[in-house]
Amino acid sequence: RGKRAFIAGVADDNGYGWAIAKSLAAAGAEILLGTWVPALNIFESSLRRGKFDESRVLPDGSLMEITKVYPLDAVFDNLEDVPEDIKANKRYAGSSNWTVQEVAESVKNDFGSIDILVHSLANGPEVTKPLLETSRNGYLAAISASSYSYVSLLKHFIPIMNPGGSSISLTYIASERIIPGYGGGMSSAKAALESDTRVLAFEAGRKHKVRVNTISAGPLRSRAAKAIGFIDMMIDYSIVNAPLQKELSADEVGNTAAFLASPLASAITGAVIYVDNGLNAMGVGV
Ligand code: NAI
Repeated sequence: RGKRAFIAGVADDNGYGWAIAKSLAAAGAEILLGTWVPALNIFESSLRRGKFDESRVLPDGSLMEITKVYPLDAVFDNLEDVPEDIKANKRYAGSSNWTVQEVAESVKNDFGSIDILVHSLANGPEVTKPLLETSRNGYLAAISASSYSYVSLLKHFIPIMNPGGSSISLTYIASERIIPGYGGGMSSAKAALESDTRVLAFEAGRKHKVRVNTISAGPLRSRAAKAIGFIDMMIDYSIVNAPLQKELSADEVGNTAAFLASPLASAITGAVIYVDNGLNAMGVGV
């Protein structure tokens, strides 16, 4: 049977999560998505209305099938974590079973197991503020949504991951080099995500034979990136300064994820894989 993938963090056809879903689908995987609760209605209705059909086309001409879309809010592990104002919120009250534990339970009930887990989500409410101006709440929110969300997802999904399975997240070089503008504790959150990738690779490898890697991706004009406000500048900078002077396409990241999820990568775990036209290797811009 083909592999089954759960991809958390897809709410339109512009981001890395969508491209990863397509590359995995092209390689024969069954696709399950986890979509942020506030974005669920518009995503599902756009899917139904065919708004994404053009971007669903796979290299062989067929359309990517999405077997099921699960509502998800990865900052909540279970119902006890959810504050009253969120419970009462119209968008959240309209769906159910969207905490991480409940989503994992639903996937288990629906399908039994998965082979591939992808975390393609991040959120930092104060991302536009320099770190020196970031509040404690803003910093902790960035870590919660962008780093612990991954620990939680893996923790809850790993019991239903088949041995030989693979887990992938997305990170950004701001974790290790100074990228002014990537604020609000988001650089810290990516540093945590990369460090956790190593520790989780050890724990998940020893206990479950599951591999854990993260892709350090170059700049893409996604919805989340546009909200940060400097994405066009970062894309231009990369085209001028990277070894490969071309715009990065989301598919290049998707294809790397498909490789990492495949047996071709069976000895790769605990790694940060750069998919950035080589920009990370430059010492100065020229
Ligand atoms: P995107 O907007 O397509 O994806 C982010 C997703 O996270 C959205 O679908 C959003 O609804 C979801 N999300 C936010 N908070 C959530 C929560 N609490 N629970 C569940 N879902 C939630 O944008 P993009 O850029 O493709 O982001 C995907 C990953 O790629 C992120 O980890 C991002 O940091 C990373 N990345 C992006 C780069 C870029 O230039 N776009 C560069 C390097 C890494």
